[in-house]
Amino acid sequence: MEETRENVMLVLLVAMILVKLSSFPAVSALELPTFREPVTNLTVAVGREAVLDCAVDNLSPYKVAWLKVDTQTILTIHSHVITKNNRIGVSHSEQNIWHLHIKEVRESDQGWYMCQINTDPMKSQVGYLTVVVPPDILDYPTSADMVVDEGSNVSLQCIAKGSPEPAITWKREDGEMIRFQNGTEVNSITGQILNITNVKRDHMGPYLCIATNGIPPSVSKRIKLVVQFSPSVWIQYQLIGAYDDQQVTLECYSQAFPKSINYWTKDTGEIIPHSAKYVPEIIEDGYKVHMKLRISSLGPKDYGVYKCISKNSLGDMEGTINVYRIPDPNKYLTSNKKQQAHDDNISGITRTSQIVRDELNIKRTRNDTSRRISLMEADHVDLQSYSSSAHNFCNIINLVHLTPLFIILHLVNTFNCHLHISIHIS
Ligand SMILES: *[C@@H]1O[C@H](CO)[C@@H](O)[C@H](O)[C@H]1NC(C)=O
Ligand SMILES: *[C@@H]1O[C@H](CO)[C@@H](O)[C@H](O)[C@H]1NC(C)=O
Ligand SMILES: *[C@@H]1O[C@H](CO)[C@@H](O)[C@H](O)[C@H]1NC(C)=O
Ligand SMILES: *[C@@H]1O[C@H](CO)[C@@H](O)[C@H](O)[C@H]1NC(C)=O
Ligand SMILES: *[C@@H]1O[C@H](CO)[C@@H](O)[C@H](O)[C@H]1NC(C)=O
Ligand SMILES: *[C@@H]1O[C@H](CO)[C@@H](O)[C@H](O)[C@H]1NC(C)=O
Repeated sequence: MEETRENVMLVLLVAMILVKLSSFPAVSALELPTFREPVTNLTVAVGREAVLDCAVDNLSPYKVAWLKVDTQTILTIHSHVITKNNRIGVSHSEQNIWHLHIKEVRESDQGWYMCQINTDPMKSQVGYLTVVVPPDILDYPTSADMVVDEGSNVSLQCIAKGSPEPAITWKREDGEMIRFQNGTEVNSITGQILNITNVKRDHMGPYLCIATNGIPPSVSKRIKLVVQFSPSVWIQYQLIGAYDDQQVTLECYSQAFPKSINYWTKDTGEIIPHSAKYVPEIIEDGYKVHMKLRISSLGPKDYGVYKCISKNSLGDMEGTINVYRIPDPNKYLTSNKKQQAHDDNISGITRTSQIVRDELNIKRTRNDTSRRISLMEADHVDLQSYSSSAHNFCNIINLVHLTPLFIILHLVNTFNCHLHISIHIS
């Protein structure tokens, strides 16, 4: 720095002679000029104008010059612009404050600026110009949209420039958490690279990389992550007991990406087309598909095995649902009391059997039914429904509350329910 400064002085002196400014005064007799205050450091956003101030007392007959320190360039002397850089200007106010103007500031303008007075020895002071640049995401090194197989490792990259160095934050555009294999879930994560090992289908979606450095505006890039996988099928009720003339709805859930083709088949393998009797319905939500098949008025030929099939370019999968015939419970109720006793079979009850029997005398009505069963010493309770189509036949058995001493059975019946209840007391 010391050397640089000496060089600058030399250059300046030469320059001053060249431009033939007013002759040097007899130094001794005069009061020497002084700097009133230090040159204040300045921070300016790129493209704006920077103005550096140098306030001097007792200047006359000396001159003030501005220099750029790192390039040893003389920018201005007195009210003259010396440099060829046409973005540079100089002005001064009556109070002898010398303003160096730099228009449309560039990053290269950042650095030390020297305000110099041509006394002998010369006097000088410096101020620092910081040029800040809002962040900008570089397209080339930044990841583009990606299509990957489930289970692979994904590395998303986002590179931004700016001054100061921008920080990169990743988040999901849909606001979902980002899950990592180690079990942690985060709303956002910082760093140029977002690594997801063993990527899952729920990682699919648009991601945002956001670059910020405190200089507005922040910028972001949207990167879509597509995770592809072969279909998987899930069925809640695989056995459906139904009776003649009943309407049933078969349901099947599948997931696949790319989007699957979904359809139902019967024993023969033929696709079940839409008809008055069979009404297939598909409810899609992203890569998730909810398939329904409504069968109205069951006839003898309608019992049997149904398949829901989901196919995409990566594979296919099917699920089976067995619809079997049961007696019409309305008829069955009145005609077969023995069967009813069997259904309500309560085994192994000894000490509290009478209470339990009374309490379990669940009325088979078409309306919602709630019953309380108090058991003093039950240690195992096994509740089962024979028919388990959630939406059609025996609706829901909801075990509302279960403690070692107390059970509340809540039966919501839209139709009659076949119940098997066994309670073991040790
Ligand atoms: C200007 O900034 C430099 C460091 O960048 C610091 O050393 C100096 O004291 C600052 N000057 C003023 C007047 O704040
Ligand atoms: C993904 O990364 C993990 C850990 O870094 C490694 O064990 C695994 O083999 C990688 N999987 C693939 C498909 O490259
Ligand atoms: C889990 O992994 C993520 C990303 O690899 C990492 O940021 C995080 O610190 C890890 N958490 C734990 C508890 O190891
Ligand atoms: C991301 O994974 C790559 C290898 O795929 C590894 O070189 C890099 O260090 C990882 N970065 C982070 C931040 O985990
Ligand atoms: C109830 O079940 C027990 C054993 O599980 C059996 O011995 C009994 O015969 C059944 N009672 C009726 C009425 O079916
Ligand atoms: C069943 O519900 C209907 C209407 O919701 C009502 O008219 C009828 O009385 C109810 N029957 C019983 C047994 O609660």
